[in-house]
Amino acid sequence: MVKREMRNMLVTGGCGFIGANFIHYILEEADFTGRIINVDKLTYAGNPDNLSGIEEKFKDRYVFVRADICDRETMEEIFDRYEVDSVCHFAAESHVDRSIVRPDSFIRTNVIGTFTLLEAARQRMERFRLFHHISTDEVYGTLGEDGFFTEETPYRPNSPYSASKAGSDHLVRAYHKTYGLPVTISNCSNNYGPYQFPEKLIPLIILSAVEGRPLPVYGDGRHIRDWLYVRDHCVAIWLIMKHGRTGETYNIGGNNEMQNIRVVELICDILDELRPRENGSYRDLITFVKDRPGHDRRYAIDASKIMSELRWRPEESFETGIRKTVEWYLDNQEWVRRVKSGEYLSWIKEHYGIDD
Ligand code: NAD
Ligand code: TYD
Repeated sequence: MVKREMRNMLVTGGCGFIGANFIHYILEEADFTGRIINVDKLTYAGNPDNLSGIEEKFKDRYVFVRADICDRETMEEIFDRYEVDSVCHFAAESHVDRSIVRPDSFIRTNVIGTFTLLEAARQRMERFRLFHHISTDEVYGTLGEDGFFTEETPYRPNSPYSASKAGSDHLVRAYHKTYGLPVTISNCSNNYGPYQFPEKLIPLIILSAVEGRPLPVYGDGRHIRDWLYVRDHCVAIWLIMKHGRTGETYNIGGNNEMQNIRVVELICDILDELRPRENGSYRDLITFVKDRPGHDRRYAIDASKIMSELRWRPEESFETGIRKTVEWYLDNQEWVRRVKSGEYLSWIKEHYGIDD
């Protein structure tokens, strides 16, 4: 098995949902001994609260730089100043619904941003160890009732988001084939867990339910996603970075296929138990709304490659992971309050000024 040593890892989008969970994991739990350079533009989805305490706890091993990954000069400067030898690339515009309304920033950040980082790495190939690119199963399009996405499934993206991610995956692959840049790619299913911005299904449903607001379910609610607990995903990413074969793609999934309506009902049932409503069940708040255009019907991952090659296994079932997640949102009221009130954005403006 490969054994990569990485000293100065550039993590992009480290203040977002998965990036922040990854930084917590790699500094607090994993066997990484180097330094993390977290580069994040702090868009609406980047929340410094997700990493509160990290800077003080890891003074010599953690640096934050507010920057846009599309800014070539700044990226090159960061690569040189911090002697970056590896990249774990999370930064992206990530919400399908937003990409339908306004795709511009998706093309810019996901395609041009990835290209900019690849170029900075390519120019410094002699000391560069690995570019790990985080992608999504949505690049494969939609499944019917049977079958699973494997690493060999052809790309058929259906939304501007998934098309922009597909473009970035192709660029990463091409930089390996053409220039020999050491890369790995992972395509994972829907993540859930702590610090997820409440525009995505699971935190949106938890927080709306607690406030007694309608719980919007798109279309007939029978669309299927394959849920992956975010810590299980972080463990998989670090395994790939250390031991994954250069130039390879690994699919990561939690083997937890579920219809959206069932996800929403399960959240309601857990809340009924942990925080009962005065009148009735949280299920009474479920409201079917107009479907999303181009809504993919089913995603399901075949994760046998990473399971057999790297001996990765998800620890959480959906039942255990969703309970932990609901409890996290109930227990972290201050985080929730600052996200919902936009206070975290005012803090960013005060500290870093207004971005374009
Ligand atoms: P997120 O939206 O929570 O976070 C994205 C982060 O990137 C934010 O901190 C944001 O400020 C930063 N960012 C955005 N544009 C930037 C730019 N131009 N320069 C620098 N930073 C920028 O996203 P997430 O859910 O944590 O997803 C992380 C990665 O995982 C993405 O690449 C996404 O496509 C992929 N992914 C996510 C899921 C999921 O279920 N959340 C599933 C599969 C793949
Ligand atoms: P989402 O969390 O946006 O992730 P993705 O679109 O990347 O899969 O949505 C998950 C599923 O939940 C998807 O099938 C759309 C559906 N959905 C709803 O039914 N209601 C909602 O309010 C949202 C945000 C999503």
